[in-house]
Amino acid sequence: MEVIHTKAALNNFVSQLKYKGNKIALVPTMGALHAGHISLVDQAKQFADVVICSIFVNPTQFTDTKDLEKYPRPLEHDLDMLSASGCEAVFMPSVQEMYPKPEAWHVDLGPAEFVLEGQFRKGHFQGVTQIVKKLFDCVMPDVALFGQKDFQQVLMIKNMVELFTMPIEIVTCPIIRETDGLAMSSRNMHLSTEDRKHALVLSEALLFVAERFSEDSIGALIEQAKDFFKHQVGVELDYFTISNITTLMPAESKTEGDLVALVAAKVGATRLIDNIILTGKN
Ligand code: PAF
Repeated sequence: MEVIHTKAALNNFVSQLKYKGNKIALVPTMGALHAGHISLVDQAKQFADVVICSIFVNPTQFTDTKDLEKYPRPLEHDLDMLSASGCEAVFMPSVQEMYPKPEAWHVDLGPAEFVLEGQFRKGHFQGVTQIVKKLFDCVMPDVALFGQKDFQQVLMIKNMVELFTMPIEIVTCPIIRETDGLAMSSRNMHLSTEDRKHALVLSEALLFVAERFSEDSIGALIEQAKDFFKHQVGVELDYFTISNITTLMPAESKTEGDLVALVAAKVGATRLIDNIILTGKN
């Protein structure tokens, strides 16, 4: 596996691949890899001849500097996992390489930018789309793969790709869960043993809503889901919503389009998100 640190070296690597007619898949990550990331690499192989991963903890998407500082960076472990996964190259630039000078970035991602995560993490999706655009410009992939766990993030990236008419297919891959239901996340490593048990309330509430979906009204489902959190110590709910899959606005009826249930909560000091598609597909 090639480990590439500069845009110039990456450009060289990618140009040779393209010249030989290879299709390229990009799996962007911030490292602290787990089986969810590796499933993206595995799925990427179905879409392309060569899979490139990036590991870059992007400062512009963090709204809290403490969160940025404590973001896990187990580099050796990440490189071992990627090399075993069959990924051909990993792009690991420095902050200086990606942001050589201060820059203002604002793109119109649509009203869905400002709800849910956008409300709790102001400017987060501007930072995400800023770095993803830079990575797309460097790698020029045919396809890029993202996990459904960051449901709103994928929607924002799709909106950005449409805005710039980028010829890149965006593939959303299913959430990979631990055997007890907890969605895999790099942040799970911050959970204490107690937090880890408490964190199950997110997936349990989502599963409950999916199972009861045909029985109850949207209002009743949300109320019952929120009750899970009222009875759970150590967890502070930020939101539990049933939303339209493309606008992310709260659903008013079950027939208005495809729907997704989304949740965010602080478990101890760690903020987790999760979701489940109720009707339709991603
Ligand atoms: O989901 C992530 O890990 C990050 O938000 C991404 C897409 C790699 C951009 O930094």
